[in-house]
Amino acid sequence: MNEKMNRMEFLKSLGLKGASLFAVYCAASSLTSCVNESMDPSLTSGGTGNELLLDLSSSAYSKLNTVGNYVIVSGIVIAKVSATAFAAVTQVCSHEGKRQVVFNAGEFYCSAHGARFDTAGKGLNSTGSRGLKTYVTTLEGTILKVTV
Ligand code: FES
Repeated sequence: MNEKMNRMEFLKSLGLKGASLFAVYCAASSLTSCVNESMDPSLTSGGTGNELLLDLSSSAYSKLNTVGNYVIVSGIVIAKVSATAFAAVTQVCSHEGKRQVVFNAGEFYCSAHGARFDTAGKGLNSTGSRGLKTYVTTLEGTILKVTV
């Protein structure tokens, strides 16, 4: 059995299934093609600092129109957490600094050692107790603004 299969089996043993398993597995195996990091969103300077502007009508980010999906842009995990809300946190875990945070089953999750965080970045288990840095998101039309 190769390493990928071992990892897949491990994730399955955690009880992750289907799309969730796929998302976590992609992050765990560093297949950047699974998330869209190659398309640069426009980065502008706003009144309160820099902003990422993601056009949700573009194919690069349209997956953010569906609850439960996420993208990773410039080291920020941006997720559609409900019909009306988004959440954005750093991809770098507060546990041991691994860049492995993803959005899974309604919460942020680090595939390195299993840290869990709610959509406000608050730790949900001991591994995640230090929480995650969050960013403000604002939707204006089809443009999702993340203030960084
Ligand atoms: S670095 Fe994220 S859980 Fe350990």
